[in-house]
Amino acid sequence: MSILFTPLSLRDITLRNRLWVSPMCQYSAVDGVPQEWHHTHLAQFASGGAGLVIAEATAVSPEGRISPEDTGLWNDAQRDAWAPIVAAVHARGAVAGVQLAHAGRKASTWSPFSGHRGSVPVADGGWQTVAPSAIAFDGFAAPVALDLGGIDRVVSDFADAARRAIAAGFEVLEIHAAHGYLLHQFLSPLSNARDDEYGGSLENRARLLLRVVGAVRDAAPAAPLLVRFSATDWAGGGWDADQTATVARWAADRGADFFDISSGGLVAHQRITPGPGYQVDLAAHVRRTAGVPVSAVGMIDEPGLAEQVVAAGDADAVMAGREWLRDPHYALRAAAELGADIDYWPKQYVRARLG
Ligand SMILES: Cc1cc2nc3c(=O)[nH]c(=O)nc-3n(C[C@H](O)[C@H](O)[C@H](O)COP(=O)(O)O)c2cc1C
Repeated sequence: MSILFTPLSLRDITLRNRLWVSPMCQYSAVDGVPQEWHHTHLAQFASGGAGLVIAEATAVSPEGRISPEDTGLWNDAQRDAWAPIVAAVHARGAVAGVQLAHAGRKASTWSPFSGHRGSVPVADGGWQTVAPSAIAFDGFAAPVALDLGGIDRVVSDFADAARRAIAAGFEVLEIHAAHGYLLHQFLSPLSNARDDEYGGSLENRARLLLRVVGAVRDAAPAAPLLVRFSATDWAGGGWDADQTATVARWAADRGADFFDISSGGLVAHQRITPGPGYQVDLAAHVRRTAGVPVSAVGMIDEPGLAEQVVAAGDADAVMAGREWLRDPHYALRAAAELGADIDYWPKQYVRARLG
């Protein structure tokens, strides 16, 4: 009996299984508007049996984009372009979520396929970045420290984007507080040197994230709300698993339902040793310490490992990224391998059914 292929309910939404698609930037939007590529890309994972498909880091404001080709939800044209994509995911039996994001000092960077690296100059379509403090990520242009009005705007941008996401039909929202982007920059002492109520103590560094969680919860009262954390900076003096567990508990008290545990991305001098399931211990730590439900992610490419992570109680669900790119039918294959009897093998594909 597979536990990975049992349903999981968050608020009033039931996910048909616990093998989900992690958000993955496609660097293929035009003015923040998702394109035909995004439609095919996301719908195929739903055909492939995913329980939840989370659309890529989607900027809540133009200056929050990682690259000029990122998707957005800061205007209604973007909202309207997302709607048929979300409908295609739903029509194939998966739940559609979106990751709401602001890249802070790691915004305005070249896409991986541009042939360039580092920051996009303003003259080439880039923009002045913002951050908690005027401390650059190594090799990127220096950000400007946000003033209190700028911080308020970030909060209202997240809330407005959440409203548009719900209007587009997304049923699950995820706040991106990982990978060295704006909310993580506030959390970590390595990027936050503020001396006001947004810097210094853990309470202060967590203040912006907790405001964003509260504002998104108010904007979308019924939606399951996930927060993605990097549970460690993999660098001395940085953010770590204990701080993550404490802040996850606080975020749960503000209305977050579930925590997606990743790691790294804040500083260039991080030291990571990746391998199969290398972030699972971090997820398990947050789950046990904070008493909150979590997903694990990171090189969980084998169905047996995904099953073991959930069966051991290390996580409530598993997200995967690259394995879905290699095999968009990862969940159909995993169900067959684990002997799970699923009723959502697409009828059009039954002649190829495994297991
Ligand atoms: C092409 C690509 C784009 C990604 N974009 C995002 C993103 O938009 N937001 C995010 O939180 N993580 C992003 N990630 C990280 C993945 O969500 C995932 O956490 C990571 O790839 C580790 O999981 P994996 O080993 O299963 O790929 C991206 C990864 C890839 C490969």
